[in-house]
Amino acid sequence: MKIMFIGDVVGSPGRDMVEEYLPKLKQKYQPTVTIINGENAAAGKGITEKIYRRFLECGAQAVTLGNHAWDKKEIFDFIDEAEYMVRPANFPEGTPGKGLTFIKTPKAEVAVINLQGRTFLTPNDDPFRKIDELIKVAKKRTPIVFLDFHAEATSEKQAMGWYVDGRLSVNVGTHTHVQTSDDRILPGGTAYITDVGMTGPYDGILGMEREAVMKRFLTNLPVRFEVPKSGRTQLSGVLVDVDEQTGKAKSVKRIQINDDHPFFS
Ligand SMILES: [Fe+2]
Repeated sequence: MKIMFIGDVVGSPGRDMVEEYLPKLKQKYQPTVTIINGENAAAGKGITEKIYRRFLECGAQAVTLGNHAWDKKEIFDFIDEAEYMVRPANFPEGTPGKGLTFIKTPKAEVAVINLQGRTFLTPNDDPFRKIDELIKVAKKRTPIVFLDFHAEATSEKQAMGWYVDGRLSVNVGTHTHVQTSDDRILPGGTAYITDVGMTGPYDGILGMEREAVMKRFLTNLPVRFEVPKSGRTQLSGVLVDVDEQTGKAKSVKRIQINDDHPFFS
């Protein structure tokens, strides 16, 4: 089965790319399951119920989050009922929402896990011990297990990849917003990429207006970062083919859509 993942959707430019290209990508690649990271989907920070539902209507089956999970306060009103939304599973005990969900498909169930790194981010529970626990839970139901590891440090992401190799079907990295070209199948059969990249403005800096980010570097003054309202846009993703009997990945392919890498149907 094919699993498609779309990296961090940033604000309305990112959502517009999902609206435009998700149907086309689904037609081209015929994924059984599509998963979107939506932690930046509402104006660059957080997600609303309306956006979560729209992602499902557009053809996604699950939405993952990260360090911006709580930035839109209304999330507390719906996250416990949002069956196909996962926030990092290593947030403290008692945090609303969940870090593991299951997607039913005609072929097999897919377990979807979200975790957050601890290097240069809030020191949450240990994501490595947590994934051991979650793999046990998930594998009671399905051999197909997907992880979005939302983390800053490349080394922590690579460490997770090697740590789960042979135990997960897919381990994608998110959060740093620039697609890395290290997509590969690790020797144990886990598809891995350090960062899928983001979906949103193409000419900004990590999805924010570049003038504001440059001003921060030039002046060291506090500057408000906003998602550009117009301009060129991009979509970043990854497509993995997984053997549904063994849960091992067979192939992994990066997806980039932007003016320098146009979409061909
Ligand atoms: Fe993030």
